[in-house]
This record gives sequence, structure tokens and C-alpha cells, in this order.
Amino acid sequence: MKVTFKIWRQDSPDSKGELKTYETDGLTEDMSFLEALDHLNEKLVLKNEKVVAFEYDCREGICGQCGVFINGRAHGPHDHMTTCQLHMRSFKDGDTITVEPWQAGAFPIVKDLVVDRTAFDRIVEQGAYITAKTGTAPEANSIPVPKEVSDAAMDMAACIGCGACVATCKNASAALFTSAKINHLNKLPQGKAEQHTRLLDMTKQMEVEGFGSCTFTAACEVECPAEISISSIAEMNARYVKAKIFG
Ligand code: SF4
Ligand code: FES
Repeated sequence: MKVTFKIWRQDSPDSKGELKTYETDGLTEDMSFLEALDHLNEKLVLKNEKVVAFEYDCREGICGQCGVFINGRAHGPHDHMTTCQLHMRSFKDGDTITVEPWQAGAFPIVKDLVVDRTAFDRIVEQGAYITAKTGTAPEANSIPVPKEVSDAAMDMAACIGCGACVATCKNASAALFTSAKINHLNKLPQGKAEQHTRLLDMTKQMEVEGFGSCTFTAACEVECPAEISISSIAEMNARYVKAKIFG
């Protein structure tokens, strides 16, 4: 299998970037997309050229590191899939595949396809924790959590922080990510103590970082690998009103 990669190359945050073309053969349809980039990098090493910088860790849809735009779509041509879960069988022999980094002011480019997503970490720092008494672990059944509540909280906890929601949103809004992190803990009895401050502090940090406002286009939920629904944003907004009154 042979494809033409057009890949964004940028040496540093402040340098000028450009799309560079790489004719790449020797690929197979069973290769993952990241393996295809590995294959390209091996060829670049043999030619004594700079390898393409891209991020990954788990390569199985868990860590959220690998996000890039592929032919203009976050994580490639399929809904609800990470870049590392994409395989070359999704492309045809002879295809041209354009690969670009996330494009959002709050996610500055570090190098090539790697962006700085620490803005997400700073949102999380503002409230994605609970307060618990230290000492002996409490008896497991002392805080009953109804099954439907724990299921709903786990659905929110599925967010892997990949940033596809921000990258695909025309306003570069982080509302889907932030709502998932807030609702995950605010749904649970263990998260109730800080429910209002968590919401106010995390949404404030979202603005401080320069993410845009949500206008409910739902573009984010289509690309979200964790299938977080925009109803999560509606829930966050409803909780926001409550937090303003009681927080
Ligand atoms: S909400 Fe979905 S798209 Fe956004 S960071 Fe979390 S997993 Fe990624
Ligand atoms: S490398 Fe971990 S989600 Fe893709």
C-alpha cells in the first residue's frame, strides 16, 4: 500500500510551519495509523532527515495523547475513535492523507503534530478532586451509591482528555471536557462537599485559559472517543445556576 502523507512540520512553538509531502510505500492495511507514521519515521531516519514528532502512549484509546487532524477531521474519518485506533484499511491505496496538529489558541503547537494541552490540567487542578478524611479506610458500604448514579458518573469519567472536542469546535470551546470532569464528581455523594466551588472554579479556569464559548453545535460529541454527550454541557449549565445561588 502506498499513500502520500502531507504532514504539518514545525520545529518549535515560534517557528513558521508548513505542510510537507512524503510519498510512503510499504504500508499494509493492517497497520494502525500510528504504525504508518512510525514506518514513515523509519524511512526518514534512514535518509538522515528529521522524524515527525507526534504524541502517543497507550495506543489503545485510553490515554488521550494521540489526537491529530486527519484530512480535516479530529482523529480521522470515523466517529468516536482515537487516532491510535484508526487503521490504514480506512484509506485506499494511492490516497493523499493530510495530517495536522490540533488548532486552538489554548493548545499551542510544541513541534510538528504535538500540542501543549496543559490548559486541561490547569482546569482539572481547580476542582477535579474530593475531600476525604484521612485515617483508616471507611467501611465500603457506609456511602451507598445507587447503580444508576455510579453508571452515570463512570460515563463522565470515560473522558480521556484528548482535546478533540476543543479542536473540532468552531469556538475552540472546552465545555464538553470541563462538563465531563465536573459532572463525574458532582454526581457522586463523595463529590457533593465541593460541588459548587468545583463548578465555579473549573468553568472560570476554562475562560482564563482562553477557550471559547459553547454554542451547542454538537460537533464535539461526534468526534468524542468517549461518546460524552452534549447533554453533559446542559447539565453543567444547569448546575452553574445552582452554584451561583448556593455556592
Ligand atoms: S470530552 Fe471527549 S473529545 Fe473532549 S477531551 Fe474528553 S474524551 Fe476527548
Ligand atoms: S495513544 Fe493513548 S489514546 Fe491514542
